[in-house]
Amino acid sequence: FHVTWDAEAAEKEGYQHFMIKEIHEQPKGVHETLMRRLDKDHNIVLDGIKLTKEDLEKINKVYIVACGTAYHAGLVGRYAIEKFAKIPVEVDVASEFRYRDPFVDENTLFIAVSQSGETLDTLAALREAKRKGARILSVVNVVGSSVARESHDVFYTWAGPEIAVASTKAYTTQLMAMYLIALNMASTKGTMSKEDYSKVVAELKTLPEKIEKILGDIDKIQHQADAQFSNESVFFMGRGLDVNVAHEGSLKLKEISYINSFAIAAGELKHGTIALIEDGTLVIALATQDHLYEKMLSNIQEVKARGAYVLAVAKEGNKEAEKTADVVMYIPDTTDELTPILSVIPLQLFAYFIAVARGCDVDKPKNLAKSVTVE
Ligand code: G6P
Repeated sequence: FHVTWDAEAAEKEGYQHFMIKEIHEQPKGVHETLMRRLDKDHNIVLDGIKLTKEDLEKINKVYIVACGTAYHAGLVGRYAIEKFAKIPVEVDVASEFRYRDPFVDENTLFIAVSQSGETLDTLAALREAKRKGARILSVVNVVGSSVARESHDVFYTWAGPEIAVASTKAYTTQLMAMYLIALNMASTKGTMSKEDYSKVVAELKTLPEKIEKILGDIDKIQHQADAQFSNESVFFMGRGLDVNVAHEGSLKLKEISYINSFAIAAGELKHGTIALIEDGTLVIALATQDHLYEKMLSNIQEVKARGAYVLAVAKEGNKEAEKTADVVMYIPDTTDELTPILSVIPLQLFAYFIAVARGCDVDKPKNLAKSVTVE
């Protein structure tokens, strides 16, 4: 009698890859990241962040600096902090920030976002900002990592260990972290009414269940991926917060499937990318922002008129998109500010199923590392 024991298969808990396991862990990660910070009165309590009202009043600028997927979370963070806490925010990739002598002083809040907390460029940017007197707050997943140790304040995401090189649950928990930091700043500074604040917090609480709902109905996405996997180029477009998610969706796809993909603000279509559209070009169009919905529909029409095959992502109930796009993937309804936590899920799944269909090594894509600790 002989028993074979495969430790890696056991760790995957029945999933074919770590990536799909981690995609399915998002409701839990997002829930934990939120609920560990809410007291019974719905106040956001950030134990690792000691920013007082006086500290925040001094701060006249926020820099969010990161690499890769964490940078994309930073783009959403900018939107949340500007909207809720009314402080101007700049977002930069760490390898650019550290070499461009940015305006940083003791009135700057520097936010580093990093899953591993060991990315060399992010760490170097943090040190540079600290040297110039900035207050350093980090959003990190790995407890006790270098970025966390060198920061004044730390917000730990509760994603749990992320093994797949392509980041999924770290991203959605980083988004939750950014919303909570923005709301906490807003309530400390008094830039948001109690009513608006409570509405956002109540909506945040519904997100894990809504992610679960998307994950419960993935056949349509898999079917589309199976039909589209042989494309050699794809482009993503969106407006407002959707552009940021478009960038993340595009990165996921290129990382694991080696398809040439990129993302644009849909308003920029006419300034170049439309020249590339021909019969059958695959376009992923995000149309989740209510105030930009009509504009997105006309961008979809523009690419359709030139022969594109359009997969749209829209909020449930927004059926108009069906008239213009070839296929619509729906996400449950939520407020415009919070859609990124939901709209990225179909894009992660799409990238995953395409990579599987192309026979790629999903968890360990060629030339990529989980944590980049060299320049
Ligand atoms: C690498 C990983 C990405 C990650 C980026 C930043 O490129 O493959 O998934 O987004 O590094 O990593 P960090 O650990 O700083 O979030």
